[in-house]
Amino acid sequence: MEAQSNQKAIERVVSQKALQMGSSFPCQVCVVGFLCGVCLTTLFLAALTSFGAFGFSGVSLPTIAMGISQGNSSSNTINIFTRSDQDFDLKRPERNVDSVPSKEHQENERVSLLYSAWSALLKEPTDGREELRKLGLSRSAVPSAPHLEDCKSSAQVNKRLDSYDENEIFPPWTSWKASLEMHSASTNDEQLKKYRRREISEGSYPPWITGSDQENYPLTRKGQHDLWIHQHPSNCSDPSVRFLVADWERLPGFGIGAQIAGMCGLLAIALQEKRVLVTNYYNRANHDGCEGSARSSWSCYFLPETSQECRDRALELIGSHDAWKSGIVTGKQNYSSKQIWAGRIPQLWGDPWTYLQPTTEINGSLISRHRKMDRRWWRAQAVRYLMRFQTEYTCGLMNLARHAAFGEEAAKLVLTGLPEKWPQNAVEKPVSDIEKFVWSNHRPWIPRPLLSMHVRMGDKACEMKVVEFEDYMSLANRIRKRFPHLNSIWLSTEMQEVIDKSKSYASWNFYYTDVRRQVGNITMAKYEASLGRETSTNYPLVNFLMASDADFFIGALGSTWCFLIDGMRNTGGKVMAGYLSVNKDRFW
Ligand SMILES: *[C@@H]1O[C@H](CO)[C@@H](O)[C@H](O)[C@H]1NC(C)=O
Ligand SMILES: *[C@@H]1O[C@H](CO)[C@@H](O)[C@H](O)[C@H]1NC(C)=O
Ligand SMILES: *[C@@H]1O[C@H](CO)[C@@H](O)[C@H](O)[C@H]1NC(C)=O
Ligand SMILES: *[C@@H]1O[C@H](CO)[C@@H](O)[C@H](O)[C@H]1NC(C)=O
Ligand SMILES: *[C@@H]1O[C@H](CO)[C@@H](O)[C@H](O)[C@H]1NC(C)=O
Repeated sequence: MEAQSNQKAIERVVSQKALQMGSSFPCQVCVVGFLCGVCLTTLFLAALTSFGAFGFSGVSLPTIAMGISQGNSSSNTINIFTRSDQDFDLKRPERNVDSVPSKEHQENERVSLLYSAWSALLKEPTDGREELRKLGLSRSAVPSAPHLEDCKSSAQVNKRLDSYDENEIFPPWTSWKASLEMHSASTNDEQLKKYRRREISEGSYPPWITGSDQENYPLTRKGQHDLWIHQHPSNCSDPSVRFLVADWERLPGFGIGAQIAGMCGLLAIALQEKRVLVTNYYNRANHDGCEGSARSSWSCYFLPETSQECRDRALELIGSHDAWKSGIVTGKQNYSSKQIWAGRIPQLWGDPWTYLQPTTEINGSLISRHRKMDRRWWRAQAVRYLMRFQTEYTCGLMNLARHAAFGEEAAKLVLTGLPEKWPQNAVEKPVSDIEKFVWSNHRPWIPRPLLSMHVRMGDKACEMKVVEFEDYMSLANRIRKRFPHLNSIWLSTEMQEVIDKSKSYASWNFYYTDVRRQVGNITMAKYEASLGRETSTNYPLVNFLMASDADFFIGALGSTWCFLIDGMRNTGGKVMAGYLSVNKDRFW
């Protein structure tokens, strides 16, 4: 009897899990497991370890998914995601070796030279200068690159916006953007100071939210403001401040999207229990690109979810038996998986999801209502909060990706404005104030409008209906009917097949990161393992951020990853861009 009901419970848990996980691997394990009775041990262990309801953790699974890289390594692909001290090389556009330099050849030479100069600057400070010298250029002769961000200065600005000024009780958020705010903060005008203080105390402008209220989910600004304040108590040592400390899911089957979705659930719990969420071990950041305290931490990629003081305090508390006993700190084991994955959405802001407009089209119909709108709203807020500020490291990865994809085009654009003799006698003018304080706030250039298309196929079949690339493209054509100036697509996919097919659509420009892709039916987890930890994290993250920055969106809302991109859209000022999906979320 009892054995039977246990079996039932596990089955329920597992099928629920298969339904809930955005990650493909557990799903596949489950489905395969159920269909042919294979992997049953794995299945049970996975259910046991990841389901807090069973009350224990720490059963170590054999690393099923950590397959060994097979066949030829990525030696013949340019991998922009390895560190610069390794053999990364940004391919320089081909030089044309013709004895009679025609005008066109000269032009190509110049494009190539400028591109290489920027590549060299990207490697600063290590060896950029030396490379520039080899190109016969001086730093001052190189015009600034419109598609590259000054990561050092962005990191400074972000850090300032993500902390309290000394003796202040509010973060310095005003209606002036980033460096313009720094400019105004430094003036001595008393009237201006007064306005500034008033704006700051109202806290209406979380600086990572762009677009008007109409262009975001309802209460996005308010929600983000409150989340930040909640996560940044002014005195973390105050005994009334309580914590929830949780590692990121780390079973190999959890895809990067499922890990984020899980953390969104924990953030909801923390908020409701008035605890500060502290995220701990992040397996995907356990690689040499994440140095020092950023190793194995979310803070390698994004500014951490809470202040350093609170982190320190929380990590101190988890070592104290009394702290656990008194409940000042809790961990993942204190909550059931149901609470984490399907728990209540914080009610702090009423129920803004009841009046949000999804702006999503599925199979030709604009969806205006669906189930679980509350979860959709919340995940969007949570992922936006967690990714509110990129670190210098992530900024650098984005620069590399943009340079590889758009660098040559950028060079052509810039050269049209340079004297024909460049680089002869070229000296860049010093940076003016309007550049420093105003134009510096612009996002780096990308060819706009850009359509983000995320194509999932491969091993996703068990979670959602797999749709052919042709169907994605017919949606793209529909968008272009209305917006004929659209011809660029940021294509993110793990499947080589999709990249190959894209070549037959000559009327579109496709951009994608150059990484070895999945071929045939190997599992996602195996594929990721073959790429290595660093690449298999950096590559999807870069694609995610690039997709979020697009102007139009096509994807498969049935996949957690697309669902999260959609969340970034709806908190990134792009509600009105709409989202065309080839399928619907599994829970609607
Ligand atoms: C590896 O690459 C070589 C040359 O590119 C090719 O001849 C060989 O078939 C490849 N091996 C595998 C296992 O793909
Ligand atoms: C923070 O709270 C602790 C404990 O109540 C107290 O000892 C400490 O002085 C406070 N720190 C500040 C800066 O107020
Ligand atoms: C959380 O779990 C720990 C054991 O893992 C237990 O000692 C503690 O009492 C639990 N806390 C709460 C608030 O339930
Ligand atoms: C999509 O729409 C068509 C016609 O409107 C309908 O026949 C078809 O069943 C729909 N497909 C799905 C999966 O809802
Ligand atoms: C993958 O494909 C190969 C050949 O197409 C087939 O032999 C193999 O059984 C497939 N594996 C799985 C797990 O579907």
